[in-house]
Amino acid sequence: MTLEHTPSAQGSGSAATEKFKSERVSSDTTKERAAAIYQDLLNGVGDVIRKHEVTYDEYNVFKQWLIDVGEGGEWPLFCDVFVEHHIEEVNYQRHEFKGTKGSIEGPYYVPNAPQLPSVTTMPMREEDLSAPQLVFSGQVTDLEGKGLAGAHVEMWSNDADGYYSQFAPDIPEWNLRGTIVADDDGNFSITTLYPVPYRIPHDGPTGAFIESYGGHPWRPAHLHLLVSHPGYNGIITQLYFNEGDYINDDVASAVKPELILNPKKGDDGLHRVNYDFVLDPKPE
Ligand code: DHB
Ligand code: FE
Repeated sequence: MTLEHTPSAQGSGSAATEKFKSERVSSDTTKERAAAIYQDLLNGVGDVIRKHEVTYDEYNVFKQWLIDVGEGGEWPLFCDVFVEHHIEEVNYQRHEFKGTKGSIEGPYYVPNAPQLPSVTTMPMREEDLSAPQLVFSGQVTDLEGKGLAGAHVEMWSNDADGYYSQFAPDIPEWNLRGTIVADDDGNFSITTLYPVPYRIPHDGPTGAFIESYGGHPWRPAHLHLLVSHPGYNGIITQLYFNEGDYINDDVASAVKPELILNPKKGDDGLHRVNYDFVLDPKPE
């Protein structure tokens, strides 16, 4: 493996930054709302500085670190690990959704993954196929339990080495990514690599940040999902695994009890689990 083919924070960070930059974003925030948010934010920073009597050295280290995160292309990584869970929680509550709980998107979603039939195996390489496999099945329904025909279950997950396709070198483009199209009753059954715990890229400034306070960069094993159907609120969520490491100590604080699976291992060696997704109607 040559150096430029070694996955690194720099590599996956800049790939995540390039992807994010490719869709220029905007919001309709008023000046009044912006003023209120910025005032509270800066007052909060001021409170922390006063409480801890932050020194000039610490302030300068902070400025240097901000520069490093930007130059390393790690802002999407950093924000999604340490901030997104608050945004996700507030937005779920604001709409008073009753369906399946969401979780953070993270930096590695790619839209338009190739469509796969309702009963399918995720695109995998030999080394992923020879690791333990999970058969993940379920139904996509509305709030009344009616199956949503042809619902889309987009799934993406890290490989056995902990890397996401399109964000690390030498992985086939759509490895462990796909848009599963549910059948006429909203049912699906997906065979995939049984996910393993994942370390966020930690060889750059985000890793330096974590090390500076004696933390760890691990996320529990997870599947990323975006479940959607026309006329319904598409949910971005993640599913986790009972008894897995870091389930109570996720660096990204994105685990919810409702999203923890409890697969059973069959005589054939396959782990099986069922999980149904319930979609709210689209908010006004
Ligand atoms: C990050 C990576 C993930 O796979 C995830 O689920 C959340 C965050 C990250 O590196 O920022
Ligand atoms: Fe992830």
